[in-house]
Amino acid sequence: MTTNMDAHTTRSELDLIDPMALRTDPALATASVNFDGVPITFRMVKQDDAPILGDYFVSLSAETIRRYGPHPFDRSTAEQLCATTDPTQTLRMIGTVSNADGERVIAYMILILGVREADVERYQKLGISLTPVSDCTFAPSVADAYQGKGLGSLLLAKLKHLARQLGRTRMVLWEGTQATNNRAIRFYHKNGFRTVGEFQEPPGFNNYDMILDL
Ligand SMILES: CC(C)(COP(=O)(O)OP(=O)(O)OC[C@H]1O[C@@H](n2cnc3c(N)ncnc32)[C@H](O)[C@@H]1OP(=O)(O)O)[C@@H](O)C(=O)NCCC(=O)NCCS
Repeated sequence: MTTNMDAHTTRSELDLIDPMALRTDPALATASVNFDGVPITFRMVKQDDAPILGDYFVSLSAETIRRYGPHPFDRSTAEQLCATTDPTQTLRMIGTVSNADGERVIAYMILILGVREADVERYQKLGISLTPVSDCTFAPSVADAYQGKGLGSLLLAKLKHLARQLGRTRMVLWEGTQATNNRAIRFYHKNGFRTVGEFQEPPGFNNYDMILDL
């Protein structure tokens, strides 16, 4: 496994990254991982990734979209996200596989270098003060055919390390996770997140807030 973002480093040994450097040197946030013998590249989206990101968005099942709602999943959203991507604010990471036909996206994970106002307000009621300077916000997805096989955990390990390199000390979930999303709950808990609160959104539907110390 070769990578520019290896895990399991103590904070003092970290190669810190200035988010501004990601604009000119995307390799700082690029990892090559091996998933069951298949090489996967985990990297930030580029401006010209709209076609493959769009392919991924429109391939997602209704069940996955029901669980994952940071934005619409259509080609125009992919185009807009790729055209406006700014890694000093939000990292849009993709896991890709390549073959003779080109590169294909099999995972898409959002990492906001900061916090969302709605999450801050909910955490405040729990007695937890989120801070935009050192907290970050996570929203993951994995292609339907790859879910439940360990890919999300493999990529999250890389993302956790990158978040630490970018000076982040805690990670929270974007608008929590649905209380009925058993796979996601298992995924978060096994990767170190702890449940700190419960809220209804929309009314009658339970969600959990979870936080991870990095
Ligand atoms: C949540 C998600 C990103 C996790 O990625 P992943 O690659 O599936 O995660 P992993 O395979 O690393 O871990 C999932 C764990 O849940 C287990 N699992 C799978 N299906 C499950 C189910 N129906 N109920 C409970 N656990 C389940 C897996 O066995 C695995 O645990 P294990 O390693 O102890 O066996 C991915 O499943 C996904 O994209 N889901 C749809 C969108 C979504 O829910 N996003 C999160 C919104 S908050």
